[in-house]
This record gives sequence, structure tokens and C-alpha cells, in this order.
Amino acid sequence: MVFPVNRAAGVVGAIMKSRLVNRLAIQNLLCHDESMMKNIAVFTSGGDAPGMNACIRAVARTAAYYGMEALGIIRGYEGMIENDFVSLPPREVAGILHLGGTLLKTARSKRFHTREGRDTAYAHLRARGVEGLVAIGGDGTFRGACDLTAECEIPVIGIPGTIDNDLEGTDFTIGYDTAINTVIEAVDRIRDTAESHNRLFIVEVMGKDAGLIALRSGIGSGAEAVLIPELPTDLEQVMERFEQGRKDKTSSIMIVAEGDQTGGALKAAERIERAYPHYDTRVSILGHIQRGGSPTCMDRVLASRLGVAAVEALRDGQHNVMAGVIHRDIAFTPLDQAVKHLRQPNPHFLHLLDVLST
Ligand code: F6P
Repeated sequence: MVFPVNRAAGVVGAIMKSRLVNRLAIQNLLCHDESMMKNIAVFTSGGDAPGMNACIRAVARTAAYYGMEALGIIRGYEGMIENDFVSLPPREVAGILHLGGTLLKTARSKRFHTREGRDTAYAHLRARGVEGLVAIGGDGTFRGACDLTAECEIPVIGIPGTIDNDLEGTDFTIGYDTAINTVIEAVDRIRDTAESHNRLFIVEVMGKDAGLIALRSGIGSGAEAVLIPELPTDLEQVMERFEQGRKDKTSSIMIVAEGDQTGGALKAAERIERAYPHYDTRVSILGHIQRGGSPTCMDRVLASRLGVAAVEALRDGQHNVMAGVIHRDIAFTPLDQAVKHLRQPNPHFLHLLDVLST
């Protein structure tokens, strides 16, 4: 049915008004429920990842939506030990959605590995009246959260934030999409110069234990070979394939994850230069540029979804789980199961590489 403009505006207005009334009524109810959690804190920990700010924003705004107060902890577990907290009212997180890095800073805390460090941290959380925590990070962050929750009564919801994408319980981690797009852009540029000089470029990407960045960006950039930590590397076999295609190829790109068994791009290059001196070989280590930059739309949306889900999970009484996305839906996985155990590389992706790199 098509409404005349004025009538349509009236109907839409009435619906909006009744939704607003409902929403205010719900918020009112929530604010006056004495049993409801009122004070939560959020922190980022481990390696930063693009999209962490979008996630902090989502957590702070969701808390405000439900009438809760949000605190931010500076430098993750270190800030918990140092009693370094800031208030995060909704306007405080304006203008950060598109920014890389993390407004709350991050750290890898050695002190939190000790019982003394964790006791100090918990004392500060209690003194501030923190009733629930949102931990944004990767493997190390969640291990820390597991230790904390084993010793004290504070519910933690984890949010996967790492460029490595190496956690169980989620298809994607915040930052991964931005990182692989950064790699693709870099390799496209490298390909230009490789083509011009007929060179073999060995490009090292991040991933100490996981080859997911290497594998996906390898497919996306049309690399001729990808070396990853999860599989044994037979460099001679890889080079034999390069040799077969050498007659009609004007450039070759080999992507090496930093944790690959050859020992990274420099070691691989050394061996190749020695055994195949007829290749004009160059190495490019992309390093920390993969961790910086404005998050892609995928990462911003993922971060926003998970930030909202985490706060709602705390309100629902969930504890010690990670909020992730599996097959497009929000899914919760116990924190101790989310921590990294080497996922086998997707065989379909390996097949793609095999077929397409000929
Ligand atoms: O875990 C994220 C990550 O970027 C890894 O891919 C990389 O191996 C590591 O962090 C680098 O850590 P750092 O910034 O401490 O050198």
C-alpha cells in the first residue's frame, strides 16, 4: 500500500514515538532494577588491532544505553595493577570509530602473570566498584582473564581483537580484515616493481604461530607460493615449481609468514640465493604497518557488533566467555576454549593456491 506523503509521515512519526516511549520505559526499568550491573570496565591488551577503538566506542555506548557506567583501563592489565582508569561516558568515545590503534593503549603485562600482580589488580577493580569486565585482545589477554576469574569473582567477556585471526570460537577477529587488505595493497605495489625487473620477491607478513594472514593475502594478491607455520615447508619443492614456470613468468611473489619453519623471509632468501643464483631476489618485510591504519568497514562492523554483544552478555549474567561471530551469528565460547590452539589451515584455501599459482 502507498500512503499519501503526509499520512505516511504521520504513521512513521507515531511508530517512532511509540518506540521511543518503549525504549525510555525499558531504560527506566533497567536503571531502577537494583540487581542490575551498574559499573563495567573495558580494556585492550596484547598487540593492538585496527577496530579496537570502534569496539571501545560500542562498549561505552552500550553501557550508557542500558544506564550503566563504563570505565576504561589504560594499558590493559598494567593499568589494572597501576590503578589507571578513565571514565568513558558516551561522548568521550566520539570521533574514534575510524581510528587505528587503541585509545586505551595496550601492553603485554609480565606482572599480571604473578599472583601478586593479579591480587593488586583485583583490589583496584573492587575499590572502583567494577562489576564486570570486557577484555579486548587475543590469546594472552584471554589467558590472563582465565587466571583472574579463577581467583576472584568478576565476570569477564572477551572480545577477539588481533590481526592474527588465530582464536577458536569466531570466524574473524577484529583487525584481521584490515591487516590482510594492508598486505594486499603492499603486495600489489611490490608486484609492479617485481614485474619491471623480472624479480622474485619474498614478502614476510605477520603470524608467529598462524599462517592465516599469509594464506588469505596470498590468494588475494595472486602469490606464486605461501609458506606458513602450520605446514612443513619444502623450499626445494617450491623452487622446482618456480623453475617450471620461469620461462613465461616475469615476476614471482612468495609470501612467508614470520613463524614459518624456514625462519622467515631473510632465511628463505639466503637459501634461495645460494641454490638458485639465477634469480634476482629481493626481500620485503611488511612488519608493523600491518597493525596500523584505519579499520575497514568489515572490522568496524564486527567490532561494533561484538562490543554491543559483550555488554549485553554481562547484563544477561554470562561470564568468562568470548563473544565471536560464527556463520554470521553472534556466538559465545568459554574463554579457556577460545585461546589459541593451532587451527589447521583451510584445505580449500590450500587447494585454491595450488590451482591458481601455476
Ligand atoms: O599478535 C599480533 C602480532 O602482530 C603478531 O602477528 C606478531 O607476531 C606480534 O604481534 C608482534 O608483536 P610485537 O608488536 O610485540 O612485536
